[in-house]
Parts: sequence; structure tokens; C-alpha cells
Amino acid sequence: MDEIEYLKSCVKSIKDFPKSGIVFRDITSVCENPEAFPLICKKMAELYADAGITKVVGSEARGFVFGAPVAALLGCGFVMARKPGKLPREVYSESYELEYGTNVLEMHQDAISSDDRILIVDDLIATGGTVEAQIKLVNRFNATIAGAVFAISLPDLGGVEMLKNRYGVDSRCIM
Ligand code: PRP
Ligand code: ADE
Repeated sequence: MDEIEYLKSCVKSIKDFPKSGIVFRDITSVCENPEAFPLICKKMAELYADAGITKVVGSEARGFVFGAPVAALLGCGFVMARKPGKLPREVYSESYELEYGTNVLEMHQDAISSDDRILIVDDLIATGGTVEAQIKLVNRFNATIAGAVFAISLPDLGGVEMLKNRYGVDSRCIM
């Protein structure tokens, strides 16, 4: 089995979670696996190793799981986009819709500077609502978004295309 097939075999699909009609791609077994987790983080970082990234942005919660190790591998900072009411200082906020609900993400107003080159990292892209909220937040700082990388893409839900067509953001997916 090649590495991508191996990683795919670690993801479990759960029907009707968290709502009827959703097939939930559960990455917890990738994270718990001492071979799969370092491998997927390494693959994500390698895709942007030469892109001059200065900060990775990741959203709570699963975006933290992949974003922080990818930032460490790239030797850059990590910016937390958090769910509402968690950050203690002045924040920018963006509301968004995803496959199974709505939410808000917040970032500290001094988290990014205009000369930063940003990589957005998440476990999965579906509708793209979450990454779109992160793009809107990063745009408040006038920083450059150099790319976005996801462990899993669900292309039928349109997020990857939306990123390219609406924001001109290059995105890559491992599986
Ligand atoms: C999940 C996932 C992505 C998002 C993708 O997060 O981690 O961030 O959904 O969906 P989208 O492309 O339709 O926006 P979720 O909001 O379920 O939160 P969690 O990370 O706390 O589980
Ligand atoms: N986030 C949005 N849609 C999802 C899905 N189908 N599985 C896991 N996480 C998701």
C-alpha cells in the first residue's frame, strides 16, 4: 500500500454524524496513530516548504491539531483562530456557515502583520465556510495568503473551487 492509501485507510467514515445526511470523516484515528500523524504533518509542511511562510493560521479545534505541528516543521509562528469568547484581548470576528451549522471565528487584532505570508491549515475542507472566515480575518491585516493545505478534501461540497475562484487562493490536499 502506498503512503496516501495507507493514510486514507486510517480515516473512518461515520454516517449521519453530527446530523442526518452527513458522512463524517473522522481523523481521530490518524492523530492517534504514531506513524500516520507525523507522516501527514510532514506531507502538509513539505508542500509549502519553499513558499516563504511566516505564519500558519489554524482554526479551533481540528485546525489546531494539524496547524501547530505544520508551523513547527516550517519554522514559523502559529495563529489561533478561535471560537467566540476564548481570546482575552481585542479581536476581529467573522461568522460563517459550514456543512452542519454556523459559527464564529475570532483572531487577536495583533496576531498578524501586513508583511506576513500566511498558510491556512485545517484537517478538512468541505463547503469552505471555515476557511473563507479565516481568509476574511487575515485580509483585515492586509497580509498575503500564500496558500491553504488540508489533510482531507470533500470536493463535491465546493470549498476548493470557491477558494480558487472567489479568492485566488492556491490550495492543496493530502487525500
Ligand atoms: C470542521 C473541520 C473544518 C470545517 C470544514 O470543523 O475541522 O474546520 O469543519 O468544513 P467547511 O469547509 O464546510 O467549513 P468544525 O467546525 O466541525 O469544528 P471542530 O474543528 O471543532 O471539530
Ligand atoms: N467538517 C465539515 N464537514 C465534515 C465532514 N463531512 N466530516 C468531518 N468534518 C467535517
